[in-house]
Amino acid sequence: MGSGREFAFTDQDFARVRKLLYERAGISLSPIKKYLVYSRLSRRLRATGFTTFEAYLSRAEKDAEEMEAFTNALTTNLTSFFREEHHFPILADHVAKFAGKRPVSLWCSACSTGEEAYSMAMTMADLYGDFTSQVKILATDIDTNVLEQAEKGVYPIERIEKLDPALVKRFFLRGSGKMQGQVMVKRALRDMITFDRLNLLDDNWPMKGHFDAIFCRNVMIYFDKATQYRILKKFVPLLQPDGLLFAGHSENFYQAVDLFKSLGKTVYRISPEAMRQQERAG
Ligand SMILES: C[S@@+](CC[C@H](N)C(=O)[O-])C[C@H]1O[C@@H](n2cnc3c(N)ncnc32)[C@H](O)[C@@H]1O
Repeated sequence: MGSGREFAFTDQDFARVRKLLYERAGISLSPIKKYLVYSRLSRRLRATGFTTFEAYLSRAEKDAEEMEAFTNALTTNLTSFFREEHHFPILADHVAKFAGKRPVSLWCSACSTGEEAYSMAMTMADLYGDFTSQVKILATDIDTNVLEQAEKGVYPIERIEKLDPALVKRFFLRGSGKMQGQVMVKRALRDMITFDRLNLLDDNWPMKGHFDAIFCRNVMIYFDKATQYRILKKFVPLLQPDGLLFAGHSENFYQAVDLFKSLGKTVYRISPEAMRQQERAG
């Protein structure tokens, strides 16, 4: 890639980008994504004033802030409210078993711009009959740009067009004036969620304790099987013994049957084998 383009982008540059993204975010970029990578990263070259990918990548390797911008530019953040909607009644039925008896803790582990975490919160508010402080939702992502949008909870009105109008009325405020054409999630819904940056690839995750459910949807597809396994292994001690793990529609964890068993519909529970190991470890 070179002639006719603003910046030269050699196969070596592309290989270096792939290696860096794999090392820092676990993301295995397909070799056919060269043009996509060029277009996303050339914006970073323009913003930083570099004229070659070689110089830009050397900066990104050394500078944590630019590495964050590099990662943000290359993540795929596609999401929507109630995406793969069959999961939400399963979550509600599961939590209903102990709702009101003890606090509930949920983790949305690749939350992108927030729609998934807000869908979990709406499901819980429906179950409890109101916004509730009994349910805490942790929502994390590696990408700081999407987290900023998620925190704001402001979306173009088209994003909620397919939702039930009664649900929209209950959970969203319609913008007017400068906010015309946008909707904002209600504060009380927002208050059920804590947004934070977390790289699933990191060795140490700060949170402890037992989640009743972990949503890890449409992110594992970017990781190779070994990376997926490592992450799945770390989910086990963070889940309640009967906790649920939700995966994306095109993901399966059959390479980790010793850790998770499928309940169908891309929902998983800790396998008996992993449970025994957990108990032995105390
Ligand atoms: C396609 S979106 C999926 C969003 C949502 N879970 C859903 O299913 O609609 C994938 C998200 O994974 C995030 N991601 C990619 N690599 C990650 C990593 N190493 N740690 C945490 N999040 C990551 C991306 O930033 C992106 O927001």
